[in-house]
Formats: sequence, structure tokens, C-alpha cells
Amino acid sequence: MTAPETKIPDFPGIAGKRVLVTGASSGLGVHFAQLFATQGAQVTAAARRLDRVEALCDRLVSEGHSAVGLQMDVSDAGSVTAAMQDCAFDIVINNAGTTASTSALDHTVDDIDAVIDTNLKGVFHVARAAADGMIRKGTGGSIVNVASILGKRVAGQVSAYAASKGGVMQLTRSLALEWARYEIRVNALCPGYIETELNSDFFASEPGQALIRRVPQRRLGQASDLDGAVLLLASDLGGFMTGADIAVDGGHLVSSL
Ligand SMILES: NC(=O)c1ccc[n+]([C@@H]2O[C@H](COP(=O)([O-])OP(=O)(O)OC[C@H]3O[C@@H](n4cnc5c(N)ncnc54)[C@H](OP(=O)(O)O)[C@@H]3O)[C@@H](O)[C@H]2O)c1
Repeated sequence: MTAPETKIPDFPGIAGKRVLVTGASSGLGVHFAQLFATQGAQVTAAARRLDRVEALCDRLVSEGHSAVGLQMDVSDAGSVTAAMQDCAFDIVINNAGTTASTSALDHTVDDIDAVIDTNLKGVFHVARAAADGMIRKGTGGSIVNVASILGKRVAGQVSAYAASKGGVMQLTRSLALEWARYEIRVNALCPGYIETELNSDFFASEPGQALIRRVPQRRLGQASDLDGAVLLLASDLGGFMTGADIAVDGGHLVSSL
């Protein structure tokens, strides 16, 4: 079973808006940048690898969309402030992330720092810089933090990652509470296992196939499976949603104990 091919309607409140997608040099971030560009948004695609986001933006512009690249290391608060100080975004897809896949005892201090600095502190830095701009502009906005089903349940070998994503979910609720007065909505998207070029080899292997058999829908997600949820949270259709989280996981969270 694969993801259904569906033409996506225009979601209200996206066209013409300034949308920042972090982690847009590979995987889901590339997909989100394309998705918002095709919805008519002015996309800023950010990552450390500027050549990659610029190549993506060149392609999107050649297809008639609006997109610019931005270099930013989300784990470095100074880099985030410098990159975002002259920007005012309406929508932020806080997607940059990294992982370390060893037992907790084998995580190095550098592994722990990299995962927490990128996934949790990075989301915090970007959200605060974005909220500064939204508050200055006075028109509010929507921030979608990309967490994970590992923010809700655990698996082996990813302790720092699961902790970071659990932190992102609680941060999402805190920011939603504090920023509702500025009409800034903050929600979390919790993908299950989504196939990207980086993990496709693993999912083709026997351990990967065994993992897929534990997903009630018996398939991996495709990036396009996230479209409905991310557009709902970002658009005016989600206008009364803040502090919420949406899992998109083929039922993985309700797999049988
Ligand atoms: N794929 C899945 O199955 C899945 C499931 C649940 C949640 N997620 C979450 O979805 C998000 C995207 O994952 P993905 O699978 O697309 O991963 P990916 O292909 O490895 O992409 C990660 C992106 O994050 C960027 N990034 C990493 N560290 C950064 C830093 N310090 N500063 C700025 N950008 C940084 C990378 O760009 P540069 O290296 O160029 O900076 C890259 O563009 C992550 O938050 C991940 O945890 C993924």
C-alpha cells in the first residue's frame, strides 16, 4: 500500500505569506519548501548547506514559484539571530533535526549535545526569533514544530532524540500559552517513520522491514502523507488550534502492546 496521489487544494491563508522552512537542504524540509511554494507562499529555505538550499530555490523559481535560500545553524543562537533579524515570517516550519543512533550508554557527550542543541534548543532559538518578527509586525503567525512519535513513546538506541522530541512537544505547549496574546499559534507535527533518501536503505533491510511490519498500516509514510496535517496547522483552517500536536504515523502509536 502506498500513499494516495491527491491533488492538493489551496489552503486559505498560505498564498503570499512569508514561510520559513528550516532543514530545507534534504528530506522532509525539501518537501515542505516545495509544498508551500506550490501553495503560492514566499518561501525561505534554510540550512547550513547553503549550496543545497540555493539549488532547491533556483529550481522552485524556475518553476514559477517564490523562494530564497538562507544559511543558518539552528544550534547556534547567534547564527539564528543574525540570519533572521531582518526577516518577518508569517509561518515557520521548524523542521531542522538530527539524531544519534546508539545505546544510551554509548551516546558520547558530543552526540547528546548535537541532538539537544539542534532538535530542542534549535527549535527554541528559531521560534523566538520568528516570534520577535511576528510581534513587531503585529499580525501574528503560525509556528509548526516538527517533533516525532518518539516525543510520545520510546524506542531503543535513540534516547537523546526521544528526549529532544519530548522536549519539543512541551516547548510547543509553553510557547502556545505565552504567545496566544500575540495571535501566534504554535503546534507540533509528529511524523511516524517517513521514507527519505537517507533512511531508504535501512528500510529495505530485514530490520527495517521488521519495523514496517509493526506499523498497523504496514507501510512507511511518504513525505506527502504529512501535507494535510502541516497545511492544516499552518493555514487559517487551523486558526483555533494552538498547543496541539498531530501524529501522522499509519497508526504506529497505537500498535499493540
Ligand atoms: N524522516 C522521518 O522518518 C522522521 C520522522 C519523525 C520526525 N522527523 C523529523 O523531521 C525533521 C526532518 O527530518 P528528515 O528525515 O528530513 O532529516 P534529514 O534528511 O537528515 O534532514 C535534516 C535537515 O536538518 C538540517 N539540519 C541539521 N542540523 C542543523 C543545524 N544545526 N542547523 C540548521 N539545519 C540543520 C539539515 O541541513 P544541513 O545539514 O544542511 O544544515 C537537513 O536539511 C527532523 O526534525 C526529524 O527529527 C523525521
